[in-house]
Amino acid sequence: MIGASLPHESGPLHVTGSAPYLDDLPEWKGTLHGAFALAQTAHGRLKSLDVDAARAFPGVVAVLTAADIPVRNNAGPAAEDDPVLVRDLVSFHGQALALVLAESFEAARKAARLVSAEIEAFPALLTVDEAKAAESWVLPPVQVRRGDTAAALAASPHRLSGTTRVGGQEHFYLEGQGAYALPREDRGMHVHSSTQHPTEMQHLVAGMLGWEAHQVSVECRRMGGGFGGKESQSGQVSCAAALGAWKTGRPVKVRLDRDDDMLLTGKRHDFLVEYDVGFDDGGLILGVSFVMASRCGFSPDLSGPVNDRAVFHLDNAYYLDAVAIRSLRCRTNTVSNTAFRGFGGPQGLFAIESVIDAVARRLGLDPLDVRKMNFYGPSDGSHRNTTHYGMRVEDNIAPALVDRLEATSDYRHRRQALQAFNDSHRFLKRGIALTPVKFGISFTATFYNQAGAMVHVYADGSVLVTHGGTEMGQGLYTKVRQIVAHELGLEVERVRMLPTDTSRIPNTSATAASSGTDLNGMAALQAARAIKERLDTFAAAEGPNLGWDDLVAKAYRARIKLWESGFYATPKIHYDPKTMQGRPFLYFAYGACCAEVEIDTLTGENRILRADILHDVGRSLNPAIDRGQIEGGFLQGAGWLTTEELWWTPEGRLWTHAPSTYKIPAASDCPSDLRVDFWEGDNIEETVHRSKAVGEPPLMHGLAVYFALKDAVVAAVGAEAALNLVAPATPEAVLRALGGLSGTQP
Ligand code: MTE
Ligand code: MOS
Repeated sequence: MIGASLPHESGPLHVTGSAPYLDDLPEWKGTLHGAFALAQTAHGRLKSLDVDAARAFPGVVAVLTAADIPVRNNAGPAAEDDPVLVRDLVSFHGQALALVLAESFEAARKAARLVSAEIEAFPALLTVDEAKAAESWVLPPVQVRRGDTAAALAASPHRLSGTTRVGGQEHFYLEGQGAYALPREDRGMHVHSSTQHPTEMQHLVAGMLGWEAHQVSVECRRMGGGFGGKESQSGQVSCAAALGAWKTGRPVKVRLDRDDDMLLTGKRHDFLVEYDVGFDDGGLILGVSFVMASRCGFSPDLSGPVNDRAVFHLDNAYYLDAVAIRSLRCRTNTVSNTAFRGFGGPQGLFAIESVIDAVARRLGLDPLDVRKMNFYGPSDGSHRNTTHYGMRVEDNIAPALVDRLEATSDYRHRRQALQAFNDSHRFLKRGIALTPVKFGISFTATFYNQAGAMVHVYADGSVLVTHGGTEMGQGLYTKVRQIVAHELGLEVERVRMLPTDTSRIPNTSATAASSGTDLNGMAALQAARAIKERLDTFAAAEGPNLGWDDLVAKAYRARIKLWESGFYATPKIHYDPKTMQGRPFLYFAYGACCAEVEIDTLTGENRILRADILHDVGRSLNPAIDRGQIEGGFLQGAGWLTTEELWWTPEGRLWTHAPSTYKIPAASDCPSDLRVDFWEGDNIEETVHRSKAVGEPPLMHGLAVYFALKDAVVAAVGAEAALNLVAPATPEAVLRALGGLSGTQP
């Protein structure tokens, strides 16, 4: 059971179209539909709002503004920073000004366009560069240092400084944001929400209405993807639906149209990276300093922990002896950026890998050799194995894992073959790269690392399970079901999963940081184990040869408790947010990817020819699910770094707000030769069946594609020009780096 490639628990429902998502739920009589009116200015004071035309539109029942919010006008995780509806200050182009409630979705949308606003425009800061120059921060800058970096840089035989950039990313979950609020008796509210964080939605709704948490329940059976975009940013639609339901006494559904979703909700943070690195003749880094500035948007949202994680991942798999990091959290008049698979980690990896690549190019070495030279040392000694935040790397498998992938991917031969190809082709150039990933597992907010679960065994022997984690396609429910079935010695068919609901399991954490199974799987295991132990004791007295159903039936009659709750809190972790020192992670997940690409130097067009991934999931709970996570993560990461580009107009309006202009990878962008393999080895920490988290780490394998593109650009125009290739490496960006396209990126 553990380690079996069982299909996703909703697989048959997914493929037959009978898995209900939020907008598929049967609608209650009297249901109203909501749509937002959006601001058409990036920054300014809202002087007046004219909603008369919208109110008069056929089918419209009400138009709500900030004045209708009874208590807290906040839909975000931090303080009062994220208004459900603008009260007076417009902070970005597309911000929600009013909520139109109508008998149909179409009427609500059409009427929302009739709301007109008088806004006194203020100057707007839109980019990282503008905000950095103006010292405009959403949160104070953070510094982390180890050693005397200035001295190390001065004493280094070689020194290189540079600037690079990595773009943001739209989540593009297939199911947009949505919530459906149902008024309940005696000042109660039930909210179906497509959210990774039902408990936060519960508290936001209660806070908005001035209620206590026990008056609100929030439920989520599944999301059509979240990818971090529904960790905090499901707050606005959840609050809007609840506000509408409270105001009208009718059920209210708010589900965002794709364009509105892209305009209204935050994305991955784009980063400006400045570095200064000193190194020896062999490419060993002796000292490095970074300034990492990210576009946070108008409010903090999750930008604090996202940027912290970027800082925690600036080492990737490398020991940085003398290091100085300055992390700038820029406030801009753009949508508030948020969690996205990897949560700042990918941007940290991008920065250090860019440095490694630049060092290798300067010395004329193979970047893989420079990578290997800088790895953390063996875990036994005390040398070169402590991170810049003071955590020991106790299971440094990166060197061995990279060695194995180097061999199985045939990296050295293929590099030679590629050289021959490039020598004999004038316009087509190929490149290859092999990049490692080391990713810390646990929420850096230590208190979040807790979970609860409930296991019910009914008198007929069937089992019902619920826990605090949410299902977004990643297979959490499938894994928890397996864990419980295994513990009780049953077929999975005997175990059914209940939707996640704050009235069943309270005080849940977001399903995020890849720790859904680590936390909820362990809580469910504890609950199942307690029942199993009681039944074992009973069986020892009553006859050990009873089958499960008979045993349960007998135990019920003997008044044995057949249900149990479980609770888990991650051990060992601690860290001081002020100094950023400690052990924020229980363990690291590792992996590596070797990608080969081809570019057309006349057009900048490119494709991935082959990718080999070796990934560490500890002892896999379900190799089929894990493989899906690895493949999907890789492709999503490759999309982030190659095709997905966000454009804002000079007025701050997001131009790429639909799939027509924002290009996510299609099936045809997946390399036809994609080889995924698992690293064999248990987690050294006592996680659930010694497995490792898998949700986010594979996204960073996309880096291999970006650095392979860079390698191809080097082959075409040399190392210096290749330094100008920023991410995303779209065809235009590739052509620009090749010198074949003038003009700069917006
Ligand atoms: N996989 C699918 N199919 N859909 C998703 O939305 N989200 C990712 C990852 N894999 C996601 C996914 C993100 S951002 C995280 S943090 C983890 O899944 C969350 O689930 P887990 O903790 O259970 O791995
Ligand atoms: Mo994932 S970005 O931690 O939801």
